[in-house]
Amino acid sequence: MKFITYSAGETQQVAKNLAQQYHQGGIMALFGELGTGKTTFTQGFAEGLQVSGKIISPTFTLIREYPLPSQPQAKLYHIDLYRLESPKDIEQLGIREIFDNRHNIVLIEWADKLGKILPPQAVRIYLKNLGQNTREIEIR
Ligand SMILES: Nc1ncnc2c1ncn2[C@@H]1O[C@H](COP(=O)(O)OP(=O)(O)OP(=O)(O)O)[C@@H](O)[C@H]1O
Ligand SMILES: [Mg+2]
Repeated sequence: MKFITYSAGETQQVAKNLAQQYHQGGIMALFGELGTGKTTFTQGFAEGLQVSGKIISPTFTLIREYPLPSQPQAKLYHIDLYRLESPKDIEQLGIREIFDNRHNIVLIEWADKLGKILPPQAVRIYLKNLGQNTREIEIR
């Protein structure tokens, strides 16, 4: 599926719609250069799952978690690997354990840094900058 959006709000709407298919859990791997809208997409996705609170990008911790109103035994995880120094650090972050609970909802910015750790069932979302406010979003 491919979408072209013309504002941050439209990107959030695409994500919000997609989220409806993943109330039971899922892994969304986000790929795209700086400022293409990975965090914006995550915000829309979280909104679609009625996750309350402002989604801001994790920096020092690399991972932020939010309760899921529809899934008390799982959480929404927002992972941003931009500052990941070495693939070895992935083990310490506990990402595998997060993936192991199939009810968790996991959004990962800079998911290419996960390499082979990214599970095959992860939904791959490619964002591209086509102009100041124009983005292409490809979901595979
Ligand atoms: N169509 C669009 N979709 C998404 N964001 C857009 C769009 N048009 C403009 N923008 C702007 O582009 C910026 C996207 O920033 P955002 O933080 O979501 O990107 P990012 O991919 O997470 O960047 P980073 O790699 O730094 O984490 C925001 O300022 C947003 O308002
Ligand atoms: Mg970001």
